[in-house]
Amino acid sequence: MTAFQPEVLSEEEVEQLLTQVTGEEIAQARELSLTPLKEQILFEGVPGTAIVRDSTGKEYIDCTAQAWTLNSGYCNPDILYTVAQQMKHLTHVRYGYPTIPRIKLTNRLSELFPGNLRQVALNNEGGGFALEAAMKLAMINRPGASTFLTAWRGYHGASLATIPASHYMPYLTRFTGYGLEHYVKFPYPYCYRCPVGLERETCSLACLQLVEGAIKYGANTPVAGLIIEPIQGPGGMIPTPDGYLAGVKELCRQYGIYLIYDEAQTTFGRVGAMSAAELYGVAPDMMALTKALGGGFPIGALLVREGLKRFTEAEEHTTFGSNPVMMAAALASIEVVLRKDLAGRAKRLGEQVTARLEELQDKYEIIGDIRGPGLFIGIELVEDRESKEPAFERAIAFLEIAMQLGVIFDVDMPDIAAGLPTRRNVIKIKPVLTITDEQMEQAMQVFEICLQKVSALSDEEKGDIMQKLMAQALPT
Ligand SMILES: Cc1ncc(COP(=O)(O)O)c(C=O)c1O
Repeated sequence: MTAFQPEVLSEEEVEQLLTQVTGEEIAQARELSLTPLKEQILFEGVPGTAIVRDSTGKEYIDCTAQAWTLNSGYCNPDILYTVAQQMKHLTHVRYGYPTIPRIKLTNRLSELFPGNLRQVALNNEGGGFALEAAMKLAMINRPGASTFLTAWRGYHGASLATIPASHYMPYLTRFTGYGLEHYVKFPYPYCYRCPVGLERETCSLACLQLVEGAIKYGANTPVAGLIIEPIQGPGGMIPTPDGYLAGVKELCRQYGIYLIYDEAQTTFGRVGAMSAAELYGVAPDMMALTKALGGGFPIGALLVREGLKRFTEAEEHTTFGSNPVMMAAALASIEVVLRKDLAGRAKRLGEQVTARLEELQDKYEIIGDIRGPGLFIGIELVEDRESKEPAFERAIAFLEIAMQLGVIFDVDMPDIAAGLPTRRNVIKIKPVLTITDEQMEQAMQVFEICLQKVSALSDEEKGDIMQKLMAQALPT
């Protein structure tokens, strides 16, 4: 077993590497980084909580759980301990080699979700990679079929194959994904802005006809699978209405298509259940997981129902895809979620926060819609409730004010059409599930202050924000 002692470096050197940074170094890295870097340099999380400090010592309550990932809190002690122990044994093996954590994780994952999802492919790349694995396996099992249906405003990753599966952002990206011809989009059942202009109470899920239409008439080659977030996250925090997923599943059965859930965001307690599949009682043929699975360590998984053909060695592997440290993290992360009943916590706290938001909706006209479930909450800001015009300038101002006041929130994916922003007006409340009642209360107080301030924004202030927003868009 390896001891943790540096040989070439001194302990002081390591400490300095990880804790000291000069203004010059920061400026240089900002110059050199090919990707934009946010202003705050996050430095340390308070173990197991929603609190993170930046390099200046400023403390934040994080209502984003860092891309909805740290369900069991920053630097969860059980996960860190398990990782440290595993690092003493082995940190890297090539993909084909099983390790003890990988064996245990494969077995554990096969027990956790409904629908006989017992076959497992692990990776250390994340959700996009797990979804690509799902696509590959669907094509293996439906030879000759290579079209996938995906939803409007869906998000499935940033690789060249998952970009076209996701929402198209022409003003925000300068390239298209590869394989555009393999995807057909259908409208997501966004009841607040119903794609067929109906009311939920009386619509009889007419939007399912559009899914069927896409299967029958939208594709140029046989359809292999339908990929859907059972509750849409990046696209606007939108739950599917009751009966919708069952309807989609029936269509998939009828037309011989694999139903693939993208549960990157919706598993391990976040929605008040272990998965959206469990919450809705509708299991898919395949499910892609990532984010909270690793409790802050990079890992993704594809789960597939029994009876489907599996991969050959050549069809699914990467250099880092069998990392035992990440698998150990996932094993611990799962136990923490289950033993602390974080799903129950998310459900109860989510109900309280939602009730509080409903009170705020009576006071603030700009709250158009409030959506759950659990701690997967979206608050849609609108200019007025009649027109439902998205209040994206107010939403952006909201984030900035909250950050100044020490709370991190985020919004939905941007969208620009005909030269103007059209969406990015849904504030998300998705903190770590271990957030304390006091921290949640503090965050909600800041939430209300932000509502007050952004409700009072002048047209001029909105104009300035719009300019800033458009500066993020590409030159046309
Ligand atoms: C719903 C959803 N699917 C897929 C992905 C892609 O996961 P990754 O970034 O790990 O590739 C994300 C990431 O944000 C996501 O939110």
